Amino acid sequence: MRVLSVASEVFPLVKTGGLADVAGALPGALASRGVTMRTLLPGYPTVLEKLDTPKTLRRISGLFGGDARLLGADVDGLDVLVLDAPHLYERPGNPYIDSLGLDWPDNAQRFAALSKVAADIGLELLPRYRPHVVHAHDWQAGLAPAYLAYAGKKRPGTIMTVHNLAFQGRFPAELLRPLGLPQKALSMDGVEYFGGIGFLKAGLRLADRITTVSPTYAAEISTVEGGMGLGGLIGGRADLLSGILNGVDEAVWDPATDPYLKARRRGNGLAWRGRNKAALKERLGLTTPPENMLFGVISRLSEQKGLDLLLAALPRLKALGADLVVLGSGDAALERAYLAEASKDPGRVGVFIGYDEPLAHLVQGGSDALLVPSRFEPCGLTQLCALRYGSVPVVARVGGLADTVIDANEMAIAAGVATGIQFAPVAREPLEHALARAADLWRQPKIWRQMQANGLATDVGWQRPAAHYAALYRAVASDDR
Ligand code: ADP
Ligand code: GLC
Repeated sequence: MRVLSVASEVFPLVKTGGLADVAGALPGALASRGVTMRTLLPGYPTVLEKLDTPKTLRRISGLFGGDARLLGADVDGLDVLVLDAPHLYERPGNPYIDSLGLDWPDNAQRFAALSKVAADIGLELLPRYRPHVVHAHDWQAGLAPAYLAYAGKKRPGTIMTVHNLAFQGRFPAELLRPLGLPQKALSMDGVEYFGGIGFLKAGLRLADRITTVSPTYAAEISTVEGGMGLGGLIGGRADLLSGILNGVDEAVWDPATDPYLKARRRGNGLAWRGRNKAALKERLGLTTPPENMLFGVISRLSEQKGLDLLLAALPRLKALGADLVVLGSGDAALERAYLAEASKDPGRVGVFIGYDEPLAHLVQGGSDALLVPSRFEPCGLTQLCALRYGSVPVVARVGGLADTVIDANEMAIAAGVATGIQFAPVAREPLEHALARAADLWRQPKIWRQMQANGLATDVGWQRPAAHYAALYRAVASDDR
């Protein structure tokens, strides 16, 4: 079974969030299940830089205003196809926005190009390579199922995966022709979305199947309240929708071998965590005694992640005698607010603004509890890593957070199965209550250690999810079309 996966970011080549982790881990997880996955991504400078002896597989002329090349390369066992189109991608920094934080004005062309080339590969642009399934991730790949649906030829099966419904890729209707879509596509059953063109909408409407990254998020986005404008469409295709939880890459996130930890896990003891906690506190300038409970955050700083609520709850967190470390970047006002808290109380609040992969590992290995107070969360990966690193997740009961953490209610504690703490609704007071519950359990070492042990024993790998994807690919590939 050959599957072409299409994504705008793929770890370790380029990453702004969890999509990259997922796109990077899926191929390896599927290999043992008879699925051979190739991954198509844009040739941003940071990607091209990391390719070792890429091969030019195909030249493409006149791709939305310039010429391009399709490169093939092997990156740590990943079979990647890189779309090298300098007129679209040769720009520094973040893949989606310029240095002022604004979307690149030609994002429609940039990601239509990615989708168009994916569709063409589906129709045998590359000699002797024809995938059975084209798997599109998020809006940037959303037009791939559309181009294939309108190709009027025998085509591979298509899957649209939603990693985050908040990003939809909406553009003016005038782009229909320039993007090479037929007039008939501008309809409710096509790419039309609130009078314009919706890339994600197109994929959701025209792909053979839809997936998202947790069962609870699948249910949430099938409703008008949670569907962010697409609930009716998704709910109407509910029989074609599945929620498949993400895993974490167990080779990248392995406390027994992690090169970024100060001390690595050996056996079932937890002493290694204390050394990481000390190193983490030193790195961020915290000066409290080791007994102080330490909460950690690793996150994009955005409305989605609910970190404004944590700011509001910070006095309570401190009143509980706990400390906080935050690693994140994003919203400028939140960045400033967290930095201000750190300078007010540098010994107890440590903040690092920026993107720092090694530090993310140290926060996992050194914090006592990991906070994820998201307003919505399709899956969430940091709480999964936390389970694997023995940091107890304290999460909002939404989306994939609801599906992956077992709340320490009285029965779960009695049964010895709790792995973390959930709170709802997502607001300051419930969050404060969750912080207090965490601090209370932290003072009961037997229960706390049991929770950590349960987390460490939780299967957060890719094998289970990979089995679901493999079954879905088989089902889609065997449909008649
Ligand atoms: P999202 O994709 O919505 O940002 P996820 O929890 O799915 O959320 O994935 C976030 C990923 O990005 C995780 O691998 C996390 O460790 C990483 N991450 C987020 N912010 C940072 C940061 N500032 N530095 C390093 N890694 C980060
Ligand atoms: C998105 C979501 C996150 C999810 C990730 C990978 O960025 O916000 O919840 O884990 O995609 O699927």
